[in-house]
Amino acid sequence: MTTTAVSAGLKLGVVGKGGVGKTTVAGLLARSYSDLGRRVVAIDTDSNPNLGLSLGLSLSDTEAVPVLPRAALVGSGGGPSADALVSDYGRPTPAGPTLLSAIRVSEAAAGCTCSGHATVRSLLAEALADVDVTLVDMEAGLEHLSRSGGTLAYADVLLVVCEPTRKSILTAIRTAALAEELGIPHVLAVGNKSRSQQDAEFFASALSAEGIELSGVLPYDHRVAEADRAGSVDLTPVSNQVQAALQDILAAVENTAGAPRE
Ligand SMILES: Nc1ncnc2c1ncn2[C@@H]1O[C@H](COP(=O)(O)OP(=O)(O)OP(=O)(O)O)[C@@H](O)[C@H]1O
Ligand SMILES: [Mg+2]
Repeated sequence: MTTTAVSAGLKLGVVGKGGVGKTTVAGLLARSYSDLGRRVVAIDTDSNPNLGLSLGLSLSDTEAVPVLPRAALVGSGGGPSADALVSDYGRPTPAGPTLLSAIRVSEAAAGCTCSGHATVRSLLAEALADVDVTLVDMEAGLEHLSRSGGTLAYADVLLVVCEPTRKSILTAIRTAALAEELGIPHVLAVGNKSRSQQDAEFFASALSAEGIELSGVLPYDHRVAEADRAGSVDLTPVSNQVQAALQDILAAVENTAGAPRE
């Protein structure tokens, strides 16, 4: 992958129904941008974080990534700068991106995670020096869009990952509606775990009926599933089909993020 241009200071949120492949897709995209020579910050907002595994870290190294302070409202009233948070809490990964862990629930009954989401929201509101792409792997569901202010309110593009099921498309439709209310400029769908031409056609027709652009379709890849079972994502080159889908997604993001607000 050598030719795709990348918008400066791009902020992407990866969202969707539980288990559709958000973390897998976020890891592959973050790695693709790094392979293009871009400086990437990948933020894990799952309360049960595992994006580190998708970026080639071991489980113990993933668990050792320090969690961002809760309610560290970047840039406001003496709060830390976004760059200071990245340099203090970010950790390098074998895939290239710098990983931030925003939310981890390690104690029972420790309260809600809203303040961790507030940190991410304020981090996205600031421009990070020397960072080309900030990519957020979001927890499942829609709460991050309804939570006060919306965790991803400052994202340029939401990538809503779908699998070939009606329920995941329904989540995409609800996501697009909430994103519009929040003023997030663009929503693109990513089809994942496609096993057949029918699956690819299902993504295209179900999403276009709702006016949601399909940016690319990743095949169901047994190596992805096997790497997951082995506890880490294999960092050897991905299949040609996966590579082609990633290139499609990067090109669609580039076209979209460069376009005027819809
Ligand atoms: N393209 C693919 N081919 C095969 N397996 C896949 C693919 N994408 C994801 N998976 C598998 O699907 C499962 C869920 O993937 P992942 O953890 O990325 O989903 P998620 O949306 O982040 O889940 P959660 O909602 O729990 O955060 C994992 O076992 C993963 O290996
Ligand atoms: Mg996940």
